[in-house]
Amino acid sequence: MGITEPNANQISGIAVVPPGLEDAAAAELTALGCHAVSPLRRAVRFQSDLAGYYRLHLQARLPFRLLRELAQFPCRGRDDLYDGVQRAADWARWLPPGTTFRVDATGTAPGLNHSHYSALQVKNALVDLQRQQWGARSSVDLDDPDLALHLHLGGAGSRDGSTATLSLDGSGGSLHRRGYRAAMGLAPLKENLAAGLIALTGWDGRMPLADPLCGSGTLLIEAACLALGKAPGLGRPFALERWPDFDPQLWQQEREAAAALALPPESPLPPIVGVEQDAGILEQARHNAKAAGVAAALDLRQGDCRDFEPPPGPGILVCNPPYGERLGEQGALEPLYADLGRMVKERCSGWSLWLLSGNPELTGALKMKASRRIPISNGGIDCRWLHYEIR
Ligand SMILES: C[S@@+](CC[C@H](N)C(=O)[O-])C[C@H]1O[C@@H](n2cnc3c(N)ncnc32)[C@H](O)[C@@H]1O
Repeated sequence: MGITEPNANQISGIAVVPPGLEDAAAAELTALGCHAVSPLRRAVRFQSDLAGYYRLHLQARLPFRLLRELAQFPCRGRDDLYDGVQRAADWARWLPPGTTFRVDATGTAPGLNHSHYSALQVKNALVDLQRQQWGARSSVDLDDPDLALHLHLGGAGSRDGSTATLSLDGSGGSLHRRGYRAAMGLAPLKENLAAGLIALTGWDGRMPLADPLCGSGTLLIEAACLALGKAPGLGRPFALERWPDFDPQLWQQEREAAAALALPPESPLPPIVGVEQDAGILEQARHNAKAAGVAAALDLRQGDCRDFEPPPGPGILVCNPPYGERLGEQGALEPLYADLGRMVKERCSGWSLWLLSGNPELTGALKMKASRRIPISNGGIDCRWLHYEIR
């Protein structure tokens, strides 16, 4: 039966993060007290104690998920996976038959090339073990399981063979869902990606910030939450609250510490201005800002970015203009980019512009030279977060 018990004082974890934000997320995890932090591809490895792991769920803005490692073992095929999973934890404690679970899998190992099949193998190992022990098994619940397990298979080509890492997912659902966004404009950014893009600009909450094509306002809402010290995880439940080693007192302590970071809503902030041409989408931005508790910090206006008048600067402009993914759209969008370039050069001298581009030909129409080009994946689209100093 089970041989290991995850050690709450030495959690080895993996933060799953948007591609391109690995370094920024590593910095965030370090600032929140993690150690042995190292960026990987689409992920950051870290160590923390249980309090630190709770803190990440409440305060980290960039990760999608925070996985807590249960066990790591060599995996040369499906039998290794089956046996390794059965030995990975004290399942009598972590998964008695009355609890529900789900398994997600990523990566490959010999004979395990399909993540759906690998996940099934983990599930079978666990329910077989339960039947042997208790003559009863847990149900799988894909939507709201008591225990969300994550299997990662990796290193298939390496000399030592593949490794299986079995982890618990502390959030259950993706952390980008802060809960403030019922309404979605056209192609909204995920909240954690928006927070990461703001982090990359280095905006410190002291200078003006503006998004002249703000859509449903995600960049500005995340920026305002950051500046007002609003912890992203305070308003939602987490899977870790149902774990057998959940420590309610420690959780409460971390919740109180996270809540105490918030500045009073009327705290003075620099202007944070958004412009959106579509009245319906602007209404969504207003709705989302209100739900996030930052409406008073934002100045959201309906208008055309070509008419944008910046507040007294210098400051930072951020934007995510339409890319024109569909055929025929690009030609129609070129004038918008050309006009945007003209507008910032005419009116935003001394500011810096950060623009998320999914189409290099369109950004050419800005007729500006980027001083930084940070590769970012936005929902699978290969983008660049481009930085321009406006002279
Ligand atoms: C890709 S979306 C921005 C999404 C936004 N970052 C979010 O998270 O919701 C681009 C937005 O630019 C707006 N837009 C397009 N042309 C515009 C213009 N000339 N002036 C102002 N907004 C414009 C569109 O209506 C759309 O909402």
